Amino acid sequence: MKFTILAGLAALASMAQAAVPGFDISHWQSTVNYKGAYNSGARFVMIKATEGTTYKDPKFSTHYIGATNAGLIRGGYHFAQPASSSGAAQANFFIKNGGGWSSDGITLPGMLDMEYNPSGSACYGLSASAMVNWISDFVETYKSSQGVYPLLYTSTSWWTQCTGNSAAFGNKTPLVIARYSSSVGTLPAGWSVYSFWQFNDSYQYGGDSQTFNGSLDQLKKIAKG
Ligand SMILES: *[C@@H]1O[C@H](CO)[C@@H](O)[C@H](O)[C@H]1NC(C)=O
Ligand SMILES: *[C@@H]1O[C@H](CO)[C@@H](O)[C@H](O)[C@H]1NC(C)=O
Repeated sequence: MKFTILAGLAALASMAQAAVPGFDISHWQSTVNYKGAYNSGARFVMIKATEGTTYKDPKFSTHYIGATNAGLIRGGYHFAQPASSSGAAQANFFIKNGGGWSSDGITLPGMLDMEYNPSGSACYGLSASAMVNWISDFVETYKSSQGVYPLLYTSTSWWTQCTGNSAAFGNKTPLVIARYSSSVGTLPAGWSVYSFWQFNDSYQYGGDSQTFNGSLDQLKKIAKG
């Protein structure tokens, strides 16, 4: 009886809103159970590739191959260092080192990670307008080289503080929203929907938990272009 009710509720929930589980990882995760993640329902993973124009994540290839072998849709991400070089220079470094996109149905557009400076002023010493220009330089360089806009990862609080809550990217870069909570909350200006939501900084098989706002077919369409 209990099972019947639960199954009924689950069916209702999936009719209301399809979602696909996934996660993100970097060198901080030395071992990741890619196949365990897949078997539990995960279908995608974002993997740290680069930072600035000098840092390449030493675990990127291991993670990328492991994810591919497990059947996960995967893509690279770039941790922005907006004070150290131009957006174009960092986009090109990212593309050369794992962040490129191809229309093979298993590669997500690269993801630009905009978040609080881990070692200095929150906005890397840039004004809001300089930050918007830096992001624009990165995403337009990526688009003209790869044919698609990158995904953009941020939190509403960082975006508000460091871009003045710019609405300039909502119709370009699909949003990956970071918020560790049971609800996604207010989105940054410009986006009326999120594409991915990083809702917890832990994940049973390694990394952070994410969810895709859509069906598996819609996720595959993003990977296909
Ligand atoms: C994140 O996951 C952990 C482990 O499952 C859980 O204890 C915690 O409550 C979760 N946090 C949120 C914000 O959901
Ligand atoms: C999820 O995506 C659907 C379809 O694009 C959209 O209608 C909905 O508002 C989105 N949900 C959120 C919370 O962004």
